[in-house]
Amino acid sequence: MLITCWYLYLAARSIAKQSLNMTSMLQKLITPLFSGPPEPPRNKVTVVGVGQVGMACAVSILLRELADELALVDVMEDKLKGEMMDLQHGSLFLKTPKIVADKDYSVTANSRIVVVTAGVRQQEGESRLNLVQRNVNIFKHIVPQIVRYSPDCTIIVVSNPVDVLTYVTWKLSGFPQHRVIGSGTNLDSARFRFLMAEKLGIHCSSFNGWILGEHGDTSGDIPFCGTNVAGVNLQTLNPDIGTDCDNENWMETHKMVVDSAYEVIKLKGYTNWAIGLSVADLTESLIRNMNRIHPVSTMVKGMYGISEEVYLSLPCVLNSGGVASVINMTLTDEEVAQLQASANTLWDIQKDLQDV
Ligand SMILES: NC(=O)c1ccc[n+]([C@@H]2O[C@H](COP(=O)([O-])OP(=O)(O)OC[C@H]3O[C@@H](n4cnc5c(N)ncnc54)[C@H](O)[C@@H]3O)[C@@H](O)[C@H]2O)c1
Repeated sequence: MLITCWYLYLAARSIAKQSLNMTSMLQKLITPLFSGPPEPPRNKVTVVGVGQVGMACAVSILLRELADELALVDVMEDKLKGEMMDLQHGSLFLKTPKIVADKDYSVTANSRIVVVTAGVRQQEGESRLNLVQRNVNIFKHIVPQIVRYSPDCTIIVVSNPVDVLTYVTWKLSGFPQHRVIGSGTNLDSARFRFLMAEKLGIHCSSFNGWILGEHGDTSGDIPFCGTNVAGVNLQTLNPDIGTDCDNENWMETHKMVVDSAYEVIKLKGYTNWAIGLSVADLTESLIRNMNRIHPVSTMVKGMYGISEEVYLSLPCVLNSGGVASVINMTLTDEEVAQLQASANTLWDIQKDLQDV
């Protein structure tokens, strides 16, 4: 007993001596010019869910140098800590000086943007809408915590089914509609632009096209309206483009967009890089107050004859306040009918959700 106490005393003395040495070394090295509480972060971004998608978002945001602080949250504590440490060890190569993580949401305090990727993943062959109630239950825990610690943030919802979960987040948060955004068809549009541009032999940034409506199995509604290269509208060159009468079969590209998520999931088990890169692009427009237009999921009640509270993707102007405005597209009757059909599909699911 006496020997144990003696060893404990020696250990305590050695630790005390070390920390004294550290302090004196620090004092020798640094002359403080002012003291006071540390400045709060200005551009803090939180990613909730550190799975494949969350980490792709986190890394893309870090590489775009958008945040002065990055916070990660998940329920899997070991994985969370491992991901945080791994990123911290790359700090030398990044411009985000603080990377933190915890399962407690106090770590997210003062975020400007919160990206929600938590949830259960779509399985091979599973429709996104099948995921819905499982993910709603997870959101009932997450959203109030986000609001508590960052009442002024803008939330970007990524988890699927993204349009329904954006509506759920809006309801659970009590936020104004412009501060709750779904990543929506931003990714579908990127896939469409890539595939079309490949066919045309140009870079996808030079092909303009919008996939609007639902991110899901009906995604790809209205794909050819407004498609243009250098201002030349493709519909004027081929009035049948995207229709069954089109002998060039451009509709095949639209089908490839709808199928591409399923194909990637079949090949590698999940999709993550493209969604991560696209979320960083949205984050940039919000953080840098850019007024850029993105096809993202927003509350569309009152637009195009839609009478229910549903979130669908339309071209939205994003700036530091969130969705500043929505571009009024010139749509044909058929295209409006497609949007309304998507709205009805979503409302059919939303009206039966528990406790939202
Ligand atoms: N919107 C899009 O375009 C798009 C694209 C790809 C994937 N997704 C969706 O993103 C979501 C995530 O996909 P993934 O591949 O990263 O899945 P994943 O299984 O790899 O990761 C999900 C993470 O969420 C965490 N999580 C679960 N419950 C939580 C809770 N209550 N709080 C915090 N974290 C929690 C899990 O621990 C896990 O780390 C899925 O819903 C998927 O369908 C959306």
